[in-house]
Amino acid sequence: MSRNFSLSRSTIENLSEKHSPLSVIGKVMSDIYHPVKNPNGILNLGIASNNLQEDILLKKDLGYGNARGSEELRSGISMLINRYFDPISAINPSQIVVTNGVTSAMDKLASIICNPGDAILLSEPYYASLVNDVNLVAKAVIHGVPIPPSEIQSPSQIKYYESKYQELRSLGVVVKAIILCNPHNPTGKVYSQSAIEAILEFANKHDIFVICDEIYALSVYRDPIAESLESSNECNNGNSEELYKFKSLLSLENLNKLIDPRLIVVVHGMSKDFCMHGFRIGWVISPFNDDIINALIKISPFSYISNFTDRLVSNILSDTEFVDTLSSTVRHNLLQNYIQTTSFLREKNISYIPSQAGYFLLVDIKPLLLVWKNNNLQPRESPITRIKDLTFDDEYRLWTASIERGRIFYSPGIIIKAHEPGWIRLIFSQPWDSLKLELERLFDFFENDSSV
Ligand SMILES: Cc1ncc(COP(=O)(O)O)c(C=O)c1O
Repeated sequence: MSRNFSLSRSTIENLSEKHSPLSVIGKVMSDIYHPVKNPNGILNLGIASNNLQEDILLKKDLGYGNARGSEELRSGISMLINRYFDPISAINPSQIVVTNGVTSAMDKLASIICNPGDAILLSEPYYASLVNDVNLVAKAVIHGVPIPPSEIQSPSQIKYYESKYQELRSLGVVVKAIILCNPHNPTGKVYSQSAIEAILEFANKHDIFVICDEIYALSVYRDPIAESLESSNECNNGNSEELYKFKSLLSLENLNKLIDPRLIVVVHGMSKDFCMHGFRIGWVISPFNDDIINALIKISPFSYISNFTDRLVSNILSDTEFVDTLSSTVRHNLLQNYIQTTSFLREKNISYIPSQAGYFLLVDIKPLLLVWKNNNLQPRESPITRIKDLTFDDEYRLWTASIERGRIFYSPGIIIKAHEPGWIRLIFSQPWDSLKLELERLFDFFENDSSV
């Protein structure tokens, strides 16, 4: 007897994607470089993984937890938040739900807040995985809000949010949330307080939830006060910069005046500030909205962390000396690598957007993309001389060539929604000796690769 069945509409949609950066990245991950196991593997300058603290991290022991996170674990998390995020009122364990990573937290929050098709606003360039995080299951839709890098720290960016909001409304689309990523991936910028306040006021005006991803909160390696004393703020080929002290949404004293606090929720986790992405642990902090906490608890059995991880992370967080040492070592090491990487780029006359936090730098490869394109013209294509004639298609071709022939991986601008072709996001959190070789190999590839 013939059978007539199909997978769900959402699965069919998920499987019919035309361009699939994720499947390219999947292949990269299964063929990643290892000095012994895979010496011809692909070198990684794309996945945000910080390998600088291995000597400290190997010293901890292992243990237990439960579905929304054990009381002990959530106490450890609240202690961390109260010590480092400066909340207006102390966070307690009942205001926290533990998830298996911030990725999972975003998926769950999207399901809880949005109906299928509802819009979530996200400034461009963005951390590209969020598009899938809120969509593959929850079917919420990210709508990018192009914000010039020069305005990302300024309240003036609200005009872009407002115009996107009005555009969507006129199309009948319901805007349910903004994801604010502070410190920001991929620019590495920290938001000014005035920018955060403007975003909250905008959200309040339209009854929009603000999901603040603060996963890089403790990875702010440049201190505005120290640098203003040294007066060494960079200016790289016109990419000037403002440094700000990180301000968590939880720490805003005037929060009540800016927004109904029930509309805000903060996510954080172990992947970045603790360099422990393999644990798959993150958490949602919702001090002002019990419904969000209860909704999260209800669905937590589908994807909670192992008891093993729960106990281990509880142990780690209860050791404040360890947390302090790791945290300051992370910032110190990131700063050293930032200095070395940016000096390397300046020596090569390659411009970049100066950053302050995270593991990454946005690097301008337009001149190199031009060289590469002319060395790799397709049939019937003529050489070009002007950078403004470069396309995202050229950038995508260079990306896949870098992986296939150059055996090296980074994030191209087309994925993170850079405003023009010719930007890449480089991860610089590798020990400098190997990073330097990888950077040399990358830029050498851009200049010399020729498929013809
Ligand atoms: C801004 C941001 N949020 C979330 C994540 C993912 O976090 P997790 O490993 O906890 O899923 C990343 C990872 O790169 C990130 O950069």
